[in-house]
Amino acid sequence: MNRVRQLNRILTRDEINARVQELGTAISDHYDSTPDLLVIGLLKGSFVFLADLVRHIRTPHEIAFLGIESYGESMQPGDRIKMTYNPGVPLSGRSVLVVDDIIDTGNTMNFVIPFLEKQGASDIQVCVLLHKRKATNLNCDVRWVGFDAPQDFLVGYGLGLGEQYRHLPYIAAVVNE
Ligand code: IMP
Ligand code: MG
Repeated sequence: MNRVRQLNRILTRDEINARVQELGTAISDHYDSTPDLLVIGLLKGSFVFLADLVRHIRTPHEIAFLGIESYGESMQPGDRIKMTYNPGVPLSGRSVLVVDDIIDTGNTMNFVIPFLEKQGASDIQVCVLLHKRKATNLNCDVRWVGFDAPQDFLVGYGLGLGEQYRHLPYIAAVVNE
């Protein structure tokens, strides 16, 4: 049986919606009429955020996903990043916007960005909903950040713990470990 954990809500559905709309507007203003834009969401955590965000991006774009795993079942980041899904969309010469739920250690972005660069993307930008601001060795700029996040383990709005809680429409900190 799944453990019942105590959750402390930190962002409401309305707060998230308002910020996602602002991000979509800023991203649309930046790309304007850039041709051939590709938005890549990192699974699984980005799926809810990406679904809401793209509906506020006016620049025509394609959507793709990469499956990236590091946490497994726990609240501790693993030291190994695994690519669990890669449909092999051609990236040569394209503008790519990478979308993820949260930056914690920065290991995921440090793995993903060089991988995309190697496939010949001409421009790569990053948008995350949450940033814990503790990644000291993050090797990329993060152009768009929804919210600075507390150091707690967070769940909801796509963020999971042992594959639970992703469906919650708000974001909460896990109180009891
Ligand atoms: P990083 O590689 O440590 O920067 O962590 C990024 C990835 O780990 C994100 O794509 C999330 O999937 C996951 N992650 C990091 N922190 C949390 C959290 O607080 N809750 C849920 N998932 C997290
Ligand atoms: Mg992730």
